[in-house]
Amino acid sequence: MGNIKIAIQKSGRLNEDSLKILKDCGISIDNGKDQLKALARNFPLEVFYLRNGDIPQYLRDGVVDIAIIGENVLVEKGKEIEIVEKLGFSKCRVSLAVPKGFDYKGIQDLKGKRIASSYPNTVQQYMSSRGVEADLHIINGSVEIAPNIGLADAICDIVSSGSTLFKNNLKEVEVMLKSEAVLAVSPKIKEGQKETLEALRFRIRSVLAARQ
Ligand code: PRP
Ligand code: MG
Repeated sequence: MGNIKIAIQKSGRLNEDSLKILKDCGISIDNGKDQLKALARNFPLEVFYLRNGDIPQYLRDGVVDIAIIGENVLVEKGKEIEIVEKLGFSKCRVSLAVPKGFDYKGIQDLKGKRIASSYPNTVQQYMSSRGVEADLHIINGSVEIAPNIGLADAICDIVSSGSTLFKNNLKEVEVMLKSEAVLAVSPKIKEGQKETLEALRFRIRSVLAARQ
């Protein structure tokens, strides 16, 4: 079977569960913490630890063959990339939120407002398909602080437990998207690698079935 390169998140919420699912598939990976690349010992797999936001481009270019990634990142940056398995972990929503005191009645209330987000394409598409134009500000992290420091009137970000919204005095007003970790495949994957991919998918499906 041909060797395949898989991208997983370097650090962050998907990292641990991504390694866990590979481990549950019986794949052991030599894992030096600071290594950006590791080889599996008993499966033709090479693991690349990458930044979330970079993974869609690497898939597109065929730098990696497959990836474990949040569906939300593909919706934002890699719509054309094929998802072959949903992995059932890292479930979250991508939502719009406003300060608790904002008397929100509907999306029209955000017309002309400043919205801070790390997901500009997702927000843009959601709003323009509803005929509402807003003023988008791209921020790469800690987005929920923006309204408190006067930088924005609303935010769009990932909501999981809701605790970040709560702590920043925000309320979720629109769920734009529901997301979970998925297995995605590069359009440039080669014929000889598909057999390995199928073997991996078979193992993943068995693991997921056992987790039910
Ligand atoms: C993520 C996300 C939200 C938060 C949602 O941020 O951007 O802020 O988690 O999770 P919760 O609903 O369970 O609170 P993260 O902590 O990963 O940091 P970052 O935004 O700085 O990347
Ligand atoms: Mg955050």
